[in-house]
Amino acid sequence: MSSNIPVLTLDGPSGVGKGTVCLLVAKKLGWHILDSGSLYRLLALSAGDNVDLGNVSQLAGLARDMQIEYVTSGGALGIYLRGENVSEAIRTEATGVLASKIAAIPEVRQALLDKQKAFAQAPGLVADGRDMGTTVFPEAALKIFLTASAEERAKRRYKQLKEKGVSANLSQLTVELQERDERDSTRSASPLLAADDAIVIDTSTLSIDEVCAQVMQLVEQRFKLKV
Ligand code: C5P
Repeated sequence: MSSNIPVLTLDGPSGVGKGTVCLLVAKKLGWHILDSGSLYRLLALSAGDNVDLGNVSQLAGLARDMQIEYVTSGGALGIYLRGENVSEAIRTEATGVLASKIAAIPEVRQALLDKQKAFAQAPGLVADGRDMGTTVFPEAALKIFLTASAEERAKRRYKQLKEKGVSANLSQLTVELQERDERDSTRSASPLLAADDAIVIDTSTLSIDEVCAQVMQLVEQRFKLKV
């Protein structure tokens, strides 16, 4: 990463709202977006349900060779795999669970590192994930870690799914989120962790607009911008 590209990292657990905040803040700033979770989801989709998680070199090769494309238009992010729009297909719970299993493999994380760093382009980058501030962009000028209780995050996910007409079970979603948190936090390679110099925002009682307002205030102070 060129050190003069401004980078804002937004890390935190599943369902905390990072993706939405990342899109809104990047749009306000006119900066690029890295939705790093989508890379692990794309890999899960490429690998398929019958993937052999023990075949590390095959998975790392797949991670390096994936033909992917990101297209931002009108504030939405289109994600393409081998030319096919998979923006919706990668968002299923099953793909998220498989992504978090594949993401625990250090060789896969290493294979995706350069792809992620390449997103740092002028005029700036908002990068969302689990290890943006600790591993991928440790020199980022502003690091924010978003948190919320598992119950609150499961409620948000439940509401989102209902709005999309997808049937969901709140207690099952809560358990799945807790299992995913556990896997993401306890793995040895780049666990979900706030960087020492990250600013932590507990979003449990905040609306998305309130979170964005706090993030924008920090961005304006840190990068000396007036948006
Ligand atoms: O953020 P999202 O839910 O799309 O990420 C899917 C999975 O990818 C996460 O549960 C996590 O295991 C993994 N991930 C990761 N590191 C990142 C982003 C996502 O390990 N920077």
